[in-house]
Amino acid sequence: MPVSPKSLTQKIINSFGAFFGHKQAEEEEEIIYNKQKWIIIGSAHKTMMMMTMSFNTTTTASNASCSLASSQKTSVRGGRANNKLRAQKHAIARQNGRRASSLVVCDGTGKFVVGGNWKCNGTIDSIDKLCASLNSGKITADVEVICAPPMVYIDRVQSKLKAPYQIAAQNCWVSKGGAFTGEVSAEMLKDANIPWVILGHSERRSLCGETNEFVGLKTKYALDTGVKVVACIGESLAQREAGDTLNVCFAQLKAIVDCVTEKDWENIIIAYEPVWAIGTGKVATPDQAQEVHAGVRKWMNENVSADVASKVRIQYGGSVNAGNCDELATKPDIDGFLVGGASLDGEAFVKICNSAAHSK
Ligand code: PGA
Repeated sequence: MPVSPKSLTQKIINSFGAFFGHKQAEEEEEIIYNKQKWIIIGSAHKTMMMMTMSFNTTTTASNASCSLASSQKTSVRGGRANNKLRAQKHAIARQNGRRASSLVVCDGTGKFVVGGNWKCNGTIDSIDKLCASLNSGKITADVEVICAPPMVYIDRVQSKLKAPYQIAAQNCWVSKGGAFTGEVSAEMLKDANIPWVILGHSERRSLCGETNEFVGLKTKYALDTGVKVVACIGESLAQREAGDTLNVCFAQLKAIVDCVTEKDWENIIIAYEPVWAIGTGKVATPDQAQEVHAGVRKWMNENVSADVASKVRIQYGGSVNAGNCDELATKPDIDGFLVGGASLDGEAFVKICNSAAHSK
């Protein structure tokens, strides 16, 4: 009879903390939530499940987890569940449909992705050196990497950086180009083969007055033009201290959700960047970041779909560096990083990319 490991159960509780008010649960503990009896079940490594149980007195924690035993043999290397595994788990749940009334699969299942946001930094000389350093670094982990140089150097960087580096712009205009002095349109990015754009960065929100709605519209326009989006969200220190962190993030997300289709989410990465951690050297603790990432994923589950919630990648950004990345990467809902300062140091950035190997 498989018994879910205690640490795994704890992770489930952490991921679904909001459900249980951060209640600490023992393995296979039964919890009453929303007038239903829930039994927490661990499966292989990373993917975790909760199954709502009907009020059936003969159903016990042991026979519930027994029904999922076969899924334990199908874990994928590194623990990052793939679609096949998830489909198998859904199928197992369906087979046991009389006992399982619903199933929630949590944690990110997408490939780890690290972005380097070079912001408004660099000279031809420093940028050439950075490209050389990145090209000579060894990226050994299974990771997608996206570098966002300043616009004026973007062509130069694109011609210098080798695979696996991809290029992103740091911004683009909200609609078709035209009489918008100083702006760059999504059409231009597409034309110049720039596959990604960062939108809604907190510096653009706070310094350039970009509202949630504006970021939502920009996201949709870029996607419709064929440019993929790293969409940034995050709360200020005052908002965190007022206990508004999740509400702020949800409002920022909602403005995007209101503009895009479910299918569009295949081409969006969410970057959670608490404003108080950006460029301050004050990194969110792994638990603080995980708590928000799990909350965001839960919100996506409720407001978009379970499929999108599981697949969408949520990066953490804010003072990530070569020293703190490995620990942050172990958190189940952290699917990558958006890195500012440390992305200007080739060696440090390569180390951060390789922290993907610690992702569970
Ligand atoms: P930081 O910036 O890593 O320098 O804190 C992150 C960002 O703004 O994307």
